[in-house]
Amino acid sequence: MTTTDELVKVAREAREHAHAPYSSFKVGAAVLSGDRVFSGVNVECASYPLSVCAERNAVAAMVGAGERRIDALAIVTDASHPTPPCGGCRQVLWEFGHEARVLSHTLSGERAEWTVAELLPDAFAVDR
Ligand code: THU
Repeated sequence: MTTTDELVKVAREAREHAHAPYSSFKVGAAVLSGDRVFSGVNVECASYPLSVCAERNAVAAMVGAGERRIDALAIVTDASHPTPPCGGCRQVLWEFGHEARVLSHTLSGERAEWTVAELLPDAFAVDR
């Protein structure tokens, strides 16, 4: 069984591989789906808008492996306070887990936690 501490450790280790030469803000993320863990890092590009957040890259790894449910997400940065996922990532997270726990840690040990529904109330959804 994967504990939240283990999930955070995976995100922290993944962060080392972030490609962030433009912002110098490295982000590591790890998604828990059942008993499987998928990591992602932010990947920046000289054409800045093409850069992709760590959270969405972790979700892409999960979906590509055949999973569709996020139980928890860990984020690790070196910010002075724990950072929540950006707005766009919140919508992508909501797609796969409304009640998923989102844990954000800093390298210095600060922690915050939300659910996806708390981060994105009144999410957009197509109902037809
Ligand atoms: N970034 C993430 O990876 N996740 C977020 O939730 C917010 C921002 C990345 C994007 C960019 O590479 C860098 O952090 C600075 O915005």
